[in-house]
Amino acid sequence: MSDYALLARQLETLLDTRDWLTNAAQTCAFLTHEIGDLNWVGFYLQRQPRTLVLGPFQGLPACNPIPFDKGVCGAAATTRRTQRVADVHAFPGHIACDAASRSELVVPIMHDGELWGVLDLDSPRPERFSEDDQRGIERLMEIFSAASDLTKPCNVTG
Ligand code: SME
Repeated sequence: MSDYALLARQLETLLDTRDWLTNAAQTCAFLTHEIGDLNWVGFYLQRQPRTLVLGPFQGLPACNPIPFDKGVCGAAATTRRTQRVADVHAFPGHIACDAASRSELVVPIMHDGELWGVLDLDSPRPERFSEDDQRGIERLMEIFSAASDLTKPCNVTG
């Protein structure tokens, strides 16, 4: 079980620039090495209307782009709520970028009341993510957001 209070302090120290790109890359590497049983960690950014575009990540090359009406990431973007999926095979519309993935956690990242992007964590273990993991990762994303200038990379109208 991860010590999220410790991870929060470590991430706050690690993110020592305001550049969201650098911070996103650092966050992916940090989570990959500090949290067990993950096969993919990465950001998808809202750079086009109702579409997510692949950002910094660790893992196999991934699906890109992802429309809001597809997949676990699309559900997180549409609802603006964390999606914690115990069994991705049972999730209608799940996008299988890596066939090894069995469970998934997707946390929306908001900026000025709008969706900026999502963080996606995949695990090869079913039911990998607990409520404690969800709360912990949501807290880490608050730290990422507060540490970074989340400018829109290009025009986004919806
Ligand atoms: N499984 C995700 C797609 C992204 S990959 O997991 C990296 C989904 O269903 O949205």
